[in-house]
Amino acid sequence: MCGIIAYSGHQAATPIILDGLRRLAYRGYDSAGIAFTQRGEIHVIKTPGKLEALVDKVAASDNPMLATCGMGHTRWATHGVPNQVNAHPHLSSGGEFALVHNGIIENYREIKAELTAKGYTFLSETDTEVLLDLIAEYRKSSPDTLTAFQRAVLRADGAYALVLTSRDEPEAVYATRKNAPLVAGVGVGENFVSSDITAFLSHTRKVIFLDEGDIIRITPDTYQVFRVEDLAPATKAVQHIEWDIQSARKGGYKHFMLKEIFEQPLVLRSALAGRIAPDWSGVLLPEMNEREILRRPGRVRIVACGTSYNAGLWASSLIETWGGVPCSVEIASEFRYRKPLLERDELVILISQSGETADTLAALKVARECDCSSLGLCNVVGSSLAREADTIIYTQAGPEISVASTKALCSQMALLTLLAMYWGERRGRFAAGELKTLLAEFAALPDYLEKQLPQMLEEAKGFAVRTASFHNVFFLGRGRNCALAMEGALKLKELSYIHAEAYAAGEMKHGPIALINPDFLTIALIPHDGHYAKAYSNIQEVAARSGPIMAITEKSDDPSVTLDWAEMYWHIPAANDPFTSFLLLPMLQLLSYEAATYLGKDVDQPRNLAKSVTVE
Ligand code: G6P
Repeated sequence: MCGIIAYSGHQAATPIILDGLRRLAYRGYDSAGIAFTQRGEIHVIKTPGKLEALVDKVAASDNPMLATCGMGHTRWATHGVPNQVNAHPHLSSGGEFALVHNGIIENYREIKAELTAKGYTFLSETDTEVLLDLIAEYRKSSPDTLTAFQRAVLRADGAYALVLTSRDEPEAVYATRKNAPLVAGVGVGENFVSSDITAFLSHTRKVIFLDEGDIIRITPDTYQVFRVEDLAPATKAVQHIEWDIQSARKGGYKHFMLKEIFEQPLVLRSALAGRIAPDWSGVLLPEMNEREILRRPGRVRIVACGTSYNAGLWASSLIETWGGVPCSVEIASEFRYRKPLLERDELVILISQSGETADTLAALKVARECDCSSLGLCNVVGSSLAREADTIIYTQAGPEISVASTKALCSQMALLTLLAMYWGERRGRFAAGELKTLLAEFAALPDYLEKQLPQMLEEAKGFAVRTASFHNVFFLGRGRNCALAMEGALKLKELSYIHAEAYAAGEMKHGPIALINPDFLTIALIPHDGHYAKAYSNIQEVAARSGPIMAITEKSDDPSVTLDWAEMYWHIPAANDPFTSFLLLPMLQLLSYEAATYLGKDVDQPRNLAKSVTVE
């Protein structure tokens, strides 16, 4: 998703902006550009493709780059193909303003028609250029740039983060947001605006979280915030960010994704820290004390996208069996438009790593319109979900840089497991001593996983090479393993571009089995849980049709259990259900990681994907 960084200070702006763009690259992009004002003229340098192409273009420019204020943008195309003309920043027809934009201006066609009638012409296919010329048009009848910007913003429908610079105010940057992330950084003699704190974290840890409808104006030594409705000044708290910038770096691993997979023991430790009563008697979730509905919901509705949706699917059966709470799970982009019937005693749980996914935020609004309480499960402090949900539980997985989500899912599964335990405890669902045993096992999991990961990685290499030789792969599982099968298939297609699908193993015979042939790999997730016998039989149906099989299961002491029907078998380290899932998950992640690296794919930034999808 698009990334924005703007700087106003006393140092040369270009290197700071390019560095900020590098830190935003993880969000996914297909073109990039910068703009700065120098000697009474706004200069724009932009290019399609990777940031290196922009860096080369900047280096090749004979412009002395003396500006101490400017902005940069990484674009993930929404209107118009990813080419140089459509890349941001855009320059107004008269050259007086430059604008970068993240999001979509829904009524841009109407504005474009209006401006065209006034004689404006447009170079790009973007909605951004239209809004920019509207600002220029309004400037003619406004006392200052701030008012012109405000008037244009009030006309714009949709979701956006906007940053504007002006030829006549070479040290000023204007910015605003609506349903898209934007934060300001407050430094000494320098100020920043960005979509993400990481872009300026090496310069300042002082941050202002902009609310929807805030307009900020920064100069090297000042920042002012106004409300968009009436330009009344707004007072904002400056917050101190504790994040360690090192944790946003690769730490010796070849890819962020591998580092993040290996961070999962740490993620589990953070998820459990302070959450288990010292005498192992129960789960501590102080966030849930806020309201009765959190302690005793009548029903739970989980809404999310992508990998976060798979977390919900995985947890739903635990919330029902342990928690005793009826639970359904929905894809946010479907939920938001289907006018769902929600009961007042229903708790809507929104799961989002980034806290900025547009469909998930829209689902939150639906819940609010239905007067339902919302609980956000989110990894990013200060994100839109964190600020807008009634109650927030942070998953504390640390920054996730790799576009494909790994450790965030582990943290979501851990928190959802704790939630199921928490509700089960309050509803008397556990036998005497049962919860204590479960909690002890959960607490031992991080160390256990840490010991297993190096061997898992070694084993994954061999299985991945064979997997990479197929063009089609089924992931099969039953129960919670069906949700993991979905995540396994998602990871494989995201990273290696191998066609992969997941099915509930029992559903295979109702159609998908027609696809089975010697060139179609089936990866069968069959740990020794309550579904083992049934899942085992389903896989035999694949074997009987000469489909090659990779069985992922535990070692068995039972001599009657043979795996000779499988071409490959990969043993899951011994654990009890549902904790086995926390071991199976990294195996699937490593399998996709190794298959993708073997095929030479861009693991951390797969094609066409964005880390944070802030448009619907
Ligand atoms: C994008 C990412 C996925 C992620 C999904 C939901 O599609 O590429 O990895 O699972 O968004 O993101 P969220 O931040 O809401 O969990």
